[in-house]
Amino acid sequence: MSSLTIIPGRPLKGTLSVPGDKSITHRAIMLSALAEGESTIKAYCRGEDCLNTVRAFQALGVRIDESPDQLRVHGKGLWGLAEPDRPIDCGNSGTGIRLLAGLLAGQDFFTVLTGDESVRRRPMGRVVRPLREMGATIAGRKGGELAPLAVTGSRLKAIEYQLPLPSAQVKSALLFAALFAEGTTRVTEPRLSRDHTERLFRYFGIPLDRKGATIALEGRSPLRWSGVNALVVPGDLSAAAFFIVGATIVPDSDVTVVGVGVNPTRTGILEILSRMGADIQISNRREEAGEPVADLRIKSAALRGIRIGPEDIPQTIDEFPILCVAAAVAQGETIISGAEELRVKESDRITTMAMELRKMGVQITENPDGMVIQGLGPSHGNQGLQGAVCASHGDHRVAMSLAIAGLAACSPTVIRDTECIETSFPNFERKMLELLTERC
Ligand code: S3P
Repeated sequence: MSSLTIIPGRPLKGTLSVPGDKSITHRAIMLSALAEGESTIKAYCRGEDCLNTVRAFQALGVRIDESPDQLRVHGKGLWGLAEPDRPIDCGNSGTGIRLLAGLLAGQDFFTVLTGDESVRRRPMGRVVRPLREMGATIAGRKGGELAPLAVTGSRLKAIEYQLPLPSAQVKSALLFAALFAEGTTRVTEPRLSRDHTERLFRYFGIPLDRKGATIALEGRSPLRWSGVNALVVPGDLSAAAFFIVGATIVPDSDVTVVGVGVNPTRTGILEILSRMGADIQISNRREEAGEPVADLRIKSAALRGIRIGPEDIPQTIDEFPILCVAAAVAQGETIISGAEELRVKESDRITTMAMELRKMGVQITENPDGMVIQGLGPSHGNQGLQGAVCASHGDHRVAMSLAIAGLAACSPTVIRDTECIETSFPNFERKMLELLTERC
């Protein structure tokens, strides 16, 4: 089991790029596999989650040539996938397993989908129930609430579905299933979640109609789409978030992150940090693969506590572990509510972050749908964050958030069980060390 030791006391300085967006990488692989002909996906996320999606499609008969800087996917067309001869292991990836459940529900073969201990604890009923309404035959533990899931390909029919909660994974699973269903599927969300699926469908030329909160997609259309040449995946804002908060809370820091996705359905972290007093400049706005991209420059700033409510959650959903760290060093109280979804992520992120930040001297009250964090204020001698021996709970974002907290502490911090960082951010430690040694 690996661990990370963080020695605080130096600013973060310099320029970095972050791995390609994990959500976009999963979807780009899936759409390329269903396209006619070859696609090249550049700057993709080489985290274990996405590599598991590569392996899944290889098991489904798709040739994918993998090199460190690009994937070459030899698409099989909409109906070209083949039955895998063994269960597909999605590892730690909730996105991988849920989107695949949708994509495979309408095939004419049988697949078993599984994942690691964390994925096998996470709720699958939210995709299984609407897919069954479409005619899917899916079995699983606890009546289909938990993986492994056994998907017997069936003839699907379109449905109109109102999502009970904003979830890009549920929305996307249904849109992938809708490609294979008879009729026009309509999906409505209570609040807009990340819209990478919609953008990438359009980028590949798949017509999709949005009216208000409802997306409509006609299935089994005679339309076939071709592979795309050199799709460049934008940098992952959720990975950049660790260094955005790090540069904000470690005094005298000045960091530029280049080529980061700034899709408005993901930029909650930037808005919330700005409300807290952060100094973030956005420049060089451009577009890649139908997604807005920009460079971000972050300088240290004093933060103040704020209220974060249900309206802030969908566009910030993966950034709460690192936001807890920002709140811990802010002046005053931060109140997070309406965030019960955090309890069913890679770990229960309300409990794990409260437990670990308490070890560093932060007072936190847990609520069923959020938490109240008493900010310590800027560090003065030993009144700020204290170094501690912390645990990742097998959650990559918890591990990286605690590493950043360690940089702002007054003594060293050890984080145990950090191999999980590989799921989304290979080279996280190297990038952090480079910023700590860079001279400007
Ligand atoms: C994701 C959607 C979000 C997010 C996850 C990635 C996606 O999950 O937390 O890390 O790629 O669609 P939910 O759909 O469960 O909110």
